[in-house]
Amino acid sequence: MGINPDFIGNIEKGTRILLLDGVTVSFDGFKALNSLSLTIDYKELRCIIGANGAGKSTMMDVITGKTKPDSGQVVFGKAVDLLELDEPQIAELGIGRKFQKPTVFSNHTIFENLELSMQDDKRFFKTLFAKLKSFQKDKIEETMKLIGLHEHAFKKAGTLSHGQKQWLEIGMLIMQNPKIMLVDEPVAGMTPHEVEKTGEILRELSNEHSVVVVEHDMEFIRSLASRVTVLHEGSVLAEGSMQNIQNNEKVRKVYLGE
Ligand SMILES: Nc1ncnc2c1ncn2[C@@H]1O[C@H](COP(=O)(O)OP(=O)(O)O)[C@@H](O)[C@H]1O
Ligand SMILES: [Mg+2]
Repeated sequence: MGINPDFIGNIEKGTRILLLDGVTVSFDGFKALNSLSLTIDYKELRCIIGANGAGKSTMMDVITGKTKPDSGQVVFGKAVDLLELDEPQIAELGIGRKFQKPTVFSNHTIFENLELSMQDDKRFFKTLFAKLKSFQKDKIEETMKLIGLHEHAFKKAGTLSHGQKQWLEIGMLIMQNPKIMLVDEPVAGMTPHEVEKTGEILRELSNEHSVVVVEHDMEFIRSLASRVTVLHEGSVLAEGSMQNIQNNEKVRKVYLGE
């Protein structure tokens, strides 16, 4: 796509992969994001919390290029200006998003769903009848193990439980090998056992990718033991460990009315 690799830079664990600086998004004068600034490190697991309307989805829209801000900077890697790129270009660069509602191909097997996500060529039949290379097969196998669906490889996706569909969709995202994975409310509607398993999957994923999770479920966030960013009225109210956040005076004021 013609991005100078120097602009991406040498991305290593612990170095910054994403910067939002002073990002403002207005809808009819209302600021959904109000000079939002935050950074995400490579191979970091980060939770974003905040009440309804805090700006979480708008933030994801800005990162993925769906919404262009009125002002501010969004930088990927060392110096790739995401504001100059459109949605497909940003996806190609390695920023993937999983929406809340699973959108798997019900009439295809788990294996095929993963296979279809891997291919650049999205033409169904061409993809399904093309011969897989062994490294591609390995990647599918490895991903099925990671998302715990290995034993269901040849089951149709439509027969999976809600939780399993969510995992499959995480798997479909993995197949695109993104550097940053944005995951919106992954445990909504899951059983406690599924919630626990999802935490394991996300933690494991953060060994290979930066994972940004938007979530309401406090127990779940606590179990992830990651850095937490609290959004409030379109900016960062607090950031730190969950314990830090719970003891934060501003957070307590806003959320507990203290
Ligand atoms: N396309 C839009 N047009 C007008 N207002 C919007 C639009 N998208 C979001 N908003 C408003 O921006 C604020 C932030 O929304 P959102 O980012 O969806 O919050 P969250 O995901 O944290 O619940 C809300 O008040 C919402 O009503
Ligand atoms: Mg939202």
